[in-house]
Amino acid sequence: MAHQHDVIVIGAGGSGLTAALYAAKQGVDVAVISKLYPTRSHTGAAQGGIGAALGNVEEDHWEWHMFDTIKGGDYLTDQDAAEIFAKEVIEAVLELEHMGLPFDRLPNGRIAQRRFGGHTKEYGKAAVHRAAHAADRTGHMILQTLYQQCVKHNLTFYNEFHVTDVIIEDNVAKGVVAYELATGELHTFQAKAIVIASGGYGRAWKVTSNAFTLTGDLQAILYRKGLPLEDMEFYQFHPTGLFPLGILLTEGARGEGGILRNDSGERFMERYAPTIKDLAPRDMVARAMYLEVREGRGVGPRKDHVLLDLTHLPAETIHKKLPDISEFAWIYQGVDPTKQPVPVMPTAHYAMGGIPTTLSGEVIADDKNTLIAGLYAAGEVACVSLHGANRLGTNSLGDLVVFGRRAGTAAAKFAKSAELHDLSPDASGESRERLERVRNSSGKESVAALRAELQQAMQDYASVFRTEELLAKGVEAVAELQERYKNIGVQDKGERYNTELVEAMELGYLLEVSEATVHSCLNRKESRGAHAREDYPERDDKNWLKHSLVYRKNGKVDFMYKPVVLGKFEPKARTY
Ligand code: FUM
Repeated sequence: MAHQHDVIVIGAGGSGLTAALYAAKQGVDVAVISKLYPTRSHTGAAQGGIGAALGNVEEDHWEWHMFDTIKGGDYLTDQDAAEIFAKEVIEAVLELEHMGLPFDRLPNGRIAQRRFGGHTKEYGKAAVHRAAHAADRTGHMILQTLYQQCVKHNLTFYNEFHVTDVIIEDNVAKGVVAYELATGELHTFQAKAIVIASGGYGRAWKVTSNAFTLTGDLQAILYRKGLPLEDMEFYQFHPTGLFPLGILLTEGARGEGGILRNDSGERFMERYAPTIKDLAPRDMVARAMYLEVREGRGVGPRKDHVLLDLTHLPAETIHKKLPDISEFAWIYQGVDPTKQPVPVMPTAHYAMGGIPTTLSGEVIADDKNTLIAGLYAAGEVACVSLHGANRLGTNSLGDLVVFGRRAGTAAAKFAKSAELHDLSPDASGESRERLERVRNSSGKESVAALRAELQQAMQDYASVFRTEELLAKGVEAVAELQERYKNIGVQDKGERYNTELVEAMELGYLLEVSEATVHSCLNRKESRGAHAREDYPERDDKNWLKHSLVYRKNGKVDFMYKPVVLGKFEPKARTY
């Protein structure tokens, strides 16, 4: 079936819905293609807050937020992106409020704000209350609010459609091909502009906070075309995954006063970050937790985790401000956080890297900033390089609305002066051929088993601490799994709701993004932010203050580089 729209948005999480809404406000015809029913998107799992220097609880300034974002990103953050972000996120939060988002309130009626990792006042002096929140369901509320607005604007939604291709010819984006889960039909979409907002790929790891759907589909689809992915070595592990499952327990718990403790009950973060302690940035806290365990100070019979202690907080605070995570701890571990500390360890959480874009979300094709006309990206799938080498908590929700809005607006403006492109009669041919090859595969390898092996390999070889030896094993393991993927067997040959086929396709995407990740990790010979190389323990600004662009040509993985956009904050040693 063939469709035509001015702007197609791929993904219905926070960035997709924001992009769609702002594109529609420009008066163009907008459609959203989503793997899921929109309100099931993963933005709904974001918990603790959206950071903006509103200054509702105490003095705050966008310049402090900008500085924290750059320092938190270990100076790989592009400073123009951080400046735009820190300014525009204030207006974006107020706009969400005006759309009806039920933020928690202070007694004076203003939006309540809590502390969060790496957010400070006066350029690092102490933690600051910057995260606007709705209990520990902030992402859920953002998603519902944005979806209501999209419904109000009568946007077209293609739900449970899996994008299988973005049609790009001579650096011009012309359309999208998608597989409809309910019917097994392939749909072709002609569009003047396309916004990719399809989220991350945390499912490459065994222990992750990410939903099952986060398999890096669009990153992989562009990478397969020879386009680059930026800064893929920087993958964030959120410190407080519920041990051993990895379910997210918000950093907002530490923002409310929660403390990390080792086996002797010591508040160990005092040793690693004497000024802001448990509210240090995530990369530092995750490393500290691993070191505590590695040095024998872990908790439990295997001494393999640490504890998040909330027992000193009033039970009312926990019930009111942290209801969801309290329930998770109770349901999955039988722990009541008002009475007992909760077992935690880092969990794979967020990709700082992704599809390179300009500040307006335009997709970049190389190290010379060549653009792909009509193609945009925003949110976790993209790399505008706001987060640099390590994202601060709450800056993902801010990123979605600030850069989702920019990408949606830019795409609509572009579409207004563009024509629909003719697509070749066989525009969906490549997708059909790939789908049929996978559907008809009858090899010996099981998709579930290969995926489990991939997740274990990524967990073992591309985790919080890395070495040449581990990463070389990771490269080898992913290459071997890619070979074995050619010999998978799919039992369900049917058309309708063929989830086995979809899972097999998703494993293909995961393998591609894992390849890009392990090669990027091996390539960067320094430690910066979330990329901690034990064999290169120092940050090396002389050789590595640059973005890496990984791409594949003729079957070979290679790299280009782009300079970091510097500005008023000179790279300095990072202490907290
Ligand atoms: O800890 C959290 O609530 C997660 C927030 C984030 O990733 O920004």
